[in-house]
Amino acid sequence: MPASTLITNIGELWTLDPALDDAPQQQVLRGAALLLEGERVAWYGPMSQTPAADVQVDAGGRAVLPGWVDSHSHLLFDGDRSAEFEARMAGRAYAAGGIQVTTDATRSALAGDLLEPLVRARIAEAWAGGTTCLETKTGYGLSLEGEALSARLAGRLVADGTLEEATYLGAHLVPREYAQDPDAYVDLAAGAMLEAALAAAGGRMRWADVFCEDGAFDEDASRRVLEAARQAGLGLRVHGHQLGRSGGVALACELGAASVDHVNHMSAADIEALAATADRPVRDAGAGTLAVDAGPTVATVLPACDLSTRAPLAPARALLDAGARIALASNCNPGTSYTSAMGFCVATAVLQMHLTLDEAIRAATRGGALALRRRDVGHLGVGARADVHLLEAPTAIHLAYRPGMPLTRAVWRRGRPIIT
Ligand code: NIG
Repeated sequence: MPASTLITNIGELWTLDPALDDAPQQQVLRGAALLLEGERVAWYGPMSQTPAADVQVDAGGRAVLPGWVDSHSHLLFDGDRSAEFEARMAGRAYAAGGIQVTTDATRSALAGDLLEPLVRARIAEAWAGGTTCLETKTGYGLSLEGEALSARLAGRLVADGTLEEATYLGAHLVPREYAQDPDAYVDLAAGAMLEAALAAAGGRMRWADVFCEDGAFDEDASRRVLEAARQAGLGLRVHGHQLGRSGGVALACELGAASVDHVNHMSAADIEALAATADRPVRDAGAGTLAVDAGPTVATVLPACDLSTRAPLAPARALLDAGARIALASNCNPGTSYTSAMGFCVATAVLQMHLTLDEAIRAATRGGALALRRRDVGHLGVGARADVHLLEAPTAIHLAYRPGMPLTRAVWRRGRPIIT
């Protein structure tokens, strides 16, 4: 890896530099250059002032963005649910029960130690679309052993720098073995399974999530798991209001969760509750991270999932208008959103959810970083991680103007070219 790389001749540079949050129009520059030194952004500025560097890359007047921060995915799975998807397109509603189908396939793959290459291939796919920071969850093991093995793999991927964030999702669905005694499963998910997952991840697990929904875990069960996770030192996330008004939004706000994700079925009061958390102060935790237990509850909208399940689109526009903090994420999983294409999510947010391009890009970068309580990613301010997305387009509006086109020309992650 070169010690320094200067990207010159950038037509549109989206630094989204937090140091300029009071002057957002200065966070996007024209005719600019960007210097990466080691793993960090060292400088950006006008073409007339470019410093020297070991390597120069001419962006040819194209647009440069921070890499996408995808704050919600479920990549630890095996199996295919295209038949379920096809039935849904023919009119069948999404029901959480499909999670068991993936759990069966995933348990076999875990037992045979076959999952890792599949997950690495999915991460490579995400990188190829400009994602440079990824969260992923357990949740298709759903037994003590299955969740521990999933957590071990997630921990290994965090340890070697492939993944940024790992989340324990033992409370994804009550598996069939516990259908007659769901309370016992909640006890397990809040007790021995949580402990086993944390131990297996070797200190690399920062989050716990629950699927708080009719047909999965009700508010009381979700609270039990989340409180146990908080006791264990994890930050909290919630799948909420995907299929109905499950109570997940209120629970997430009350417990100070970093994020509540899906948010399709929302009343005005739900939106206000999230907006009321927007000014909760964050707390620095060192090494580019923020404390998991302080800050707003971010509403994470998942446009690809909304389309793939034909759900009412999450009210991203109303959330922003009310003052809530939002993130855009892929929710890549085999059931409801089998894509990690963040550019597609941005396009959908603009085309269908009525976000401006600026709002959509911020939600897919800075928004995701806030939802993951990180300050080192999602922007290209000096000192940020050198995660850079060079588009095959002169301006970023092409993401929505040319939806579905392969607009990623190059990607640097931690200063290293990973897509060239
Ligand atoms: O975020 N809603 C819960 N979990 C996933 C879907 C899981 C599945 O159906 O396999 C989601 O949409």
